[in-house]
Amino acid sequence: MQIITDPAEMQAIAERLRLQRQFIGVVMTMGALHEGHLSLVRLAQRRAGIVIMTIFVNPMQFGPEEDYERYPRPFEQDAALARSAGVDYLFAPEQGLMYPEGFRCTVDPGPMAERFEGTVRPGHFRGVATVVLKLLNITKAHLAVFGEKDAQQLAIIRRVAADMNVDTKIEAAPISREPDGLAASSRNIYLSPEERERATALHRAIRHAEQETGRGRRDLAAIAKEGLAIVTSAPGSKPDYLCFVDDGTFDPVDTALPGRSYRLVMAVRFGTTRLIDNWRFDCGE
Ligand code: PAF
Repeated sequence: MQIITDPAEMQAIAERLRLQRQFIGVVMTMGALHEGHLSLVRLAQRRAGIVIMTIFVNPMQFGPEEDYERYPRPFEQDAALARSAGVDYLFAPEQGLMYPEGFRCTVDPGPMAERFEGTVRPGHFRGVATVVLKLLNITKAHLAVFGEKDAQQLAIIRRVAADMNVDTKIEAAPISREPDGLAASSRNIYLSPEERERATALHRAIRHAEQETGRGRRDLAAIAKEGLAIVTSAPGSKPDYLCFVDDGTFDPVDTALPGRSYRLVMAVRFGTTRLIDNWRFDCGE
Protein backbone atom coordinates (compact mmCIF):
# COMPACT_ATOMS: atom_id res chain seq x y z
CA MET A 1 0.00 0.00 0.00
CA GLN A 2 1.36 3.38 -0.99
CA ILE A 3 0.74 6.38 1.28
CA ILE A 4 0.34 9.73 -0.51
CA THR A 5 -0.01 13.11 1.14
CA ASP A 6 0.15 15.49 -1.83
CA PRO A 7 -3.07 16.03 -3.85
CA ALA A 8 -1.08 16.72 -7.05
CA GLU A 9 0.82 13.42 -6.68
CA MET A 10 -2.42 11.50 -5.98
CA GLN A 11 -4.00 13.08 -9.06
CA ALA A 12 -1.00 12.14 -11.23
CA ILE A 13 -1.14 8.52 -9.99
CA ALA A 14 -4.89 8.36 -10.61
CA GLU A 15 -4.37 9.69 -14.13
CA ARG A 16 -1.74 6.97 -14.79
CA LEU A 17 -4.07 4.29 -13.42
CA ARG A 18 -6.84 5.50 -15.73
CA LEU A 19 -4.47 5.40 -18.73
CA GLN A 20 -3.68 1.78 -17.73
CA ARG A 21 -7.47 1.15 -17.89
CA GLN A 22 -7.72 0.45 -14.16
CA PHE A 23 -11.15 0.87 -12.54
CA ILE A 24 -10.71 3.03 -9.45
CA GLY A 25 -12.89 2.83 -6.34
CA VAL A 26 -12.62 5.29 -3.46
CA VAL A 27 -13.64 5.06 0.19
CA MET A 28 -13.54 8.43 1.95
CA THR A 29 -13.03 8.55 5.71
CA MET A 30 -11.93 10.86 8.49
CA GLY A 31 -9.82 8.07 9.99
CA ALA A 32 -10.30 6.38 13.39
CA LEU A 33 -11.17 3.37 11.27
CA HIS A 34 -13.56 0.67 12.46
CA GLU A 35 -15.35 -2.34 11.00
CA GLY A 36 -17.89 -0.09 9.24
CA HIS A 37 -15.12 1.54 7.16
CA LEU A 38 -13.60 -1.85 6.37
CA SER A 39 -16.95 -3.12 5.07
CA LEU A 40 -16.98 -0.14 2.66
CA VAL A 41 -13.49 -1.17 1.52
CA ARG A 42 -14.66 -4.75 0.93
CA LEU A 43 -17.57 -3.49 -1.19
CA ALA A 44 -15.23 -1.21 -3.18
CA GLN A 45 -12.88 -4.17 -3.74
CA ARG A 46 -15.73 -6.26 -5.15
CA ARG A 47 -16.54 -3.48 -7.65
CA ALA A 48 -13.14 -1.96 -8.51
CA GLY A 49 -9.63 -3.14 -9.43
CA ILE A 50 -7.86 -0.44 -7.42
CA VAL A 51 -9.07 0.92 -4.09
CA ILE A 52 -8.00 4.30 -2.75
CA MET A 53 -8.86 5.16 0.83
CA THR A 54 -8.78 8.79 1.87
CA ILE A 55 -8.19 9.89 5.46
CA PHE A 56 -8.79 13.57 6.01
CA VAL A 57 -10.33 15.23 9.06
CA ASN A 58 -12.12 17.95 7.17
CA PRO A 59 -12.23 21.19 9.20
CA MET A 60 -14.93 22.66 6.95
CA GLN A 61 -17.57 20.18 8.15
CA PHE A 62 -17.05 20.94 11.86
CA GLY A 63 -19.13 23.64 13.56
CA PRO A 64 -17.61 26.10 16.04
CA GLU A 65 -19.07 24.04 18.92
CA GLU A 66 -17.67 20.78 17.56
CA ASP A 67 -14.19 19.81 18.59
CA TYR A 68 -12.17 19.57 15.39
CA GLU A 69 -8.87 19.71 17.28
CA ARG A 70 -9.81 16.79 19.55
CA TYR A 71 -11.08 14.52 16.77
CA PRO A 72 -9.10 11.23 17.08
CA ARG A 73 -6.22 10.82 14.60
CA PRO A 74 -4.65 7.38 15.23
CA PHE A 75 -2.82 7.48 11.90
CA GLU A 76 -0.36 4.57 12.40
CA GLN A 77 -3.17 2.26 13.54
CA ASP A 78 -5.41 3.39 10.64
CA ALA A 79 -2.64 2.83 8.09
CA ALA A 80 -2.04 -0.69 9.47
CA LEU A 81 -5.77 -1.48 9.24
CA ALA A 82 -6.02 -0.09 5.69
CA ARG A 83 -2.94 -2.10 4.65
CA SER A 84 -4.30 -5.35 6.10
CA ALA A 85 -7.68 -4.69 4.43
CA GLY A 86 -5.87 -4.61 1.07
CA VAL A 87 -6.24 -0.90 0.27
CA ASP A 88 -3.93 -0.01 -2.65
CA TYR A 89 -3.40 3.70 -2.00
CA LEU A 90 -3.92 5.64 1.20
CA PHE A 91 -4.39 9.34 0.49
CA ALA A 92 -3.91 11.37 3.68
CA PRO A 93 -3.34 15.02 2.80
CA GLU A 94 -2.38 17.79 5.19
CA GLN A 95 -4.96 20.49 5.77
CA GLY A 96 -2.76 23.18 4.16
CA LEU A 97 -2.62 21.21 0.91
CA MET A 98 -6.40 20.73 0.76
CA TYR A 99 -7.25 24.32 1.73
CA PRO A 100 -4.22 26.38 0.72
CA GLU A 101 -3.87 30.15 1.05
CA GLY A 102 -6.38 31.74 -1.33
CA PHE A 103 -8.94 28.90 -1.19
CA ARG A 104 -12.39 30.48 -1.62
CA CYS A 105 -14.97 28.28 -3.40
CA THR A 106 -17.39 25.95 -1.64
CA VAL A 107 -20.24 23.69 -2.75
CA ASP A 108 -23.67 24.78 -1.49
CA PRO A 109 -25.99 21.73 -1.54
CA GLY A 110 -29.13 23.91 -1.17
CA PRO A 111 -32.18 23.37 1.06
CA MET A 112 -31.57 19.63 1.42
CA ALA A 113 -28.60 20.50 3.62
CA GLU A 114 -30.61 22.69 5.98
CA ARG A 115 -33.05 20.16 7.44
CA PHE A 116 -32.75 17.16 9.79
CA GLU A 117 -29.00 16.72 10.48
CA GLY A 118 -28.43 20.16 8.92
CA THR A 119 -30.45 21.90 11.66
CA VAL A 120 -28.24 20.42 14.39
CA ARG A 121 -25.04 21.03 12.40
CA PRO A 122 -25.42 24.24 10.35
CA GLY A 123 -22.89 24.40 7.50
CA HIS A 124 -21.90 20.74 7.99
CA PHE A 125 -23.14 19.50 4.61
CA ARG A 126 -21.55 22.40 2.74
CA GLY A 127 -18.23 21.21 4.20
CA VAL A 128 -18.98 17.58 3.30
CA ALA A 129 -20.07 18.43 -0.27
CA THR A 130 -16.99 20.58 -0.81
CA VAL A 131 -14.46 18.02 0.41
CA VAL A 132 -16.17 15.12 -1.37
CA LEU A 133 -16.08 16.97 -4.70
CA LYS A 134 -12.40 17.82 -4.13
CA LEU A 135 -11.55 14.20 -3.24
CA LEU A 136 -13.43 12.89 -6.29
CA ASN A 137 -11.44 15.26 -8.51
CA ILE A 138 -8.15 14.28 -6.85
CA THR A 139 -8.69 10.50 -6.91
CA LYS A 140 -10.44 10.46 -10.32
CA ALA A 141 -12.48 7.54 -9.01
CA HIS A 142 -14.93 5.68 -11.23
CA LEU A 143 -16.84 4.58 -8.14
CA ALA A 144 -17.21 5.98 -4.61
CA VAL A 145 -18.75 4.00 -1.75
CA PHE A 146 -20.59 5.74 1.10
CA GLY A 147 -22.44 4.17 4.04
CA GLU A 148 -26.24 4.23 3.93
CA LYS A 149 -26.30 4.89 7.68
CA ASP A 150 -25.57 8.58 6.90
CA ALA A 151 -28.52 8.67 4.51
CA GLN A 152 -28.80 12.46 4.27
CA GLN A 153 -25.08 12.76 3.50
CA LEU A 154 -25.49 10.05 0.84
CA ALA A 155 -28.50 11.83 -0.73
CA ILE A 156 -26.63 15.15 -0.77
CA ILE A 157 -23.54 13.57 -2.37
CA ARG A 158 -25.75 11.94 -5.02
CA ARG A 159 -27.40 15.34 -5.67
CA VAL A 160 -24.05 17.14 -5.96
CA ALA A 161 -22.72 14.43 -8.31
CA ALA A 162 -25.82 14.68 -10.52
CA ASP A 163 -26.02 18.48 -10.53
CA MET A 164 -22.29 18.99 -11.14
CA ASN A 165 -22.09 16.24 -13.83
CA VAL A 166 -19.59 14.25 -11.80
CA ASP A 167 -18.59 11.11 -13.70
CA THR A 168 -18.35 8.85 -10.62
CA LYS A 169 -20.86 6.18 -9.68
CA ILE A 170 -22.01 6.75 -6.10
CA GLU A 171 -22.68 3.41 -4.44
CA ALA A 172 -24.43 2.89 -1.09
CA ALA A 173 -23.18 0.30 1.39
CA PRO A 174 -25.99 -1.16 3.52
CA ILE A 175 -26.21 -0.40 7.25
CA SER A 176 -24.53 -3.06 9.35
CA ARG A 177 -26.56 -3.97 12.42
CA GLU A 178 -25.99 -5.66 15.77
CA PRO A 179 -27.88 -8.97 16.27
CA ASP A 180 -30.72 -7.06 18.02
CA GLY A 181 -31.03 -4.62 15.11
CA LEU A 182 -29.20 -1.60 16.56
CA ALA A 183 -27.29 0.12 13.73
CA ALA A 184 -23.53 -0.26 14.22
CA SER A 185 -22.00 3.08 15.24
CA SER A 186 -18.88 4.22 17.01
CA ARG A 187 -21.24 6.14 19.33
CA ASN A 188 -22.92 2.96 20.68
CA ILE A 189 -20.10 2.54 23.23
CA TYR A 190 -21.28 5.73 24.97
CA LEU A 191 -24.65 4.11 25.83
CA SER A 192 -25.10 2.69 29.35
CA PRO A 193 -26.29 -0.98 29.42
CA GLU A 194 -29.89 0.27 30.06
CA GLU A 195 -29.71 2.85 27.25
CA ARG A 196 -28.19 0.22 24.94
CA GLU A 197 -31.23 -2.03 25.58
CA ARG A 198 -33.71 0.86 25.16
CA ALA A 199 -32.03 2.02 21.94
CA THR A 200 -33.39 -1.09 20.18
CA ALA A 201 -36.64 0.95 19.99
CA LEU A 202 -35.24 2.60 16.83
CA HIS A 203 -35.09 -0.73 15.05
CA ARG A 204 -38.51 -1.72 16.40
CA ALA A 205 -39.93 1.44 14.81
CA ILE A 206 -38.26 0.45 11.53
CA ARG A 207 -39.64 -3.10 11.74
CA HIS A 208 -43.12 -1.69 12.41
CA ALA A 209 -42.85 0.51 9.30
CA GLU A 210 -41.59 -2.48 7.30
CA GLN A 211 -44.56 -4.61 8.42
CA GLU A 212 -47.19 -1.91 7.84
CA THR A 213 -45.95 -0.87 4.38
CA GLY A 214 -45.52 -4.60 3.61
CA ARG A 215 -49.23 -5.15 4.16
CA GLY A 216 -50.07 -2.35 1.75
CA ARG A 217 -50.46 0.76 3.92
CA ARG A 218 -49.35 3.96 2.17
CA ASP A 219 -50.22 6.50 4.91
CA LEU A 220 -46.60 7.23 5.79
CA ALA A 221 -47.31 10.11 8.20
CA ALA A 222 -49.53 7.84 10.33
CA ILE A 223 -46.98 5.00 10.24
CA ALA A 224 -44.25 7.44 11.31
CA LYS A 225 -46.47 8.62 14.19
CA GLU A 226 -46.82 5.01 15.35
CA GLY A 227 -43.03 4.61 15.03
CA LEU A 228 -42.57 7.72 17.17
CA ALA A 229 -44.83 6.19 19.83
CA ILE A 230 -42.64 3.06 19.83
CA VAL A 231 -39.50 5.17 20.27
CA THR A 232 -40.93 7.42 22.98
CA SER A 233 -42.14 4.36 24.93
CA ALA A 234 -38.43 3.65 25.61
CA PRO A 235 -37.67 5.43 28.92
CA GLY A 236 -35.28 8.37 28.54
CA SER A 237 -35.53 8.59 24.75
CA LYS A 238 -35.66 12.10 23.23
CA PRO A 239 -36.45 12.00 19.50
CA ASP A 240 -35.17 14.94 17.41
CA TYR A 241 -37.14 13.76 14.38
CA LEU A 242 -38.78 10.62 13.00
CA CYS A 243 -40.55 10.83 9.65
CA PHE A 244 -40.68 9.61 6.08
CA VAL A 245 -38.91 11.63 3.39
CA ASP A 246 -38.57 11.35 -0.35
CA ASP A 247 -35.33 9.39 -0.80
CA GLY A 248 -34.01 11.74 -3.48
CA THR A 249 -34.91 15.17 -2.11
CA PHE A 250 -35.28 14.50 1.62
CA ASP A 251 -38.59 16.42 1.52
CA PRO A 252 -40.99 15.12 4.22
CA VAL A 253 -43.77 12.94 2.76
CA ASP A 254 -47.22 12.00 4.13
CA THR A 255 -48.46 9.50 1.54
CA ALA A 256 -46.52 7.03 -0.62
CA LEU A 257 -47.04 7.01 -4.38
CA PRO A 258 -46.44 3.96 -6.59
CA GLY A 259 -42.98 3.68 -8.14
CA ARG A 260 -41.34 6.14 -5.72
CA SER A 261 -38.68 5.57 -3.05
CA TYR A 262 -38.95 6.88 0.47
CA ARG A 263 -36.88 6.73 3.60
CA LEU A 264 -37.89 6.60 7.23
CA VAL A 265 -35.29 8.78 8.98
CA MET A 266 -34.81 9.30 12.69
CA ALA A 267 -32.48 10.84 15.25
CA VAL A 268 -33.01 10.00 18.89
CA ARG A 269 -31.05 10.98 21.99
CA PHE A 270 -30.44 8.69 24.92
CA GLY A 271 -28.72 10.75 27.62
CA THR A 272 -25.84 12.50 25.89
CA THR A 273 -25.71 10.03 22.98
CA ARG A 274 -27.49 10.93 19.74
CA LEU A 275 -28.30 7.97 17.48
CA ILE A 276 -29.43 8.10 13.86
CA ASP A 277 -31.02 5.33 11.81
CA ASN A 278 -33.04 4.96 8.63
CA TRP A 279 -34.84 2.52 6.37
CA ARG A 280 -35.53 2.76 2.64
CA PHE A 281 -38.95 1.88 1.29
CA ASP A 282 -39.53 1.35 -2.44
CA CYS A 283 -43.25 1.71 -3.09
CA GLY A 284 -44.42 -0.83 -5.66
CA GLU A 285 -47.34 -0.46 -8.07
O1 PAF B 1 -18.67 10.36 6.41
C1 PAF B 1 -17.55 10.85 6.62
O2 PAF B 1 -16.68 10.24 7.26
C2 PAF B 1 -17.22 12.23 6.08
O3 PAF B 1 -18.34 13.06 6.11
C3 PAF B 1 -16.61 12.20 4.65
C4 PAF B 1 -17.60 11.64 3.64
C5 PAF B 1 -15.34 11.36 4.67
C6 PAF B 1 -16.25 13.62 4.22
O4 PAF B 1 -15.31 14.19 5.07
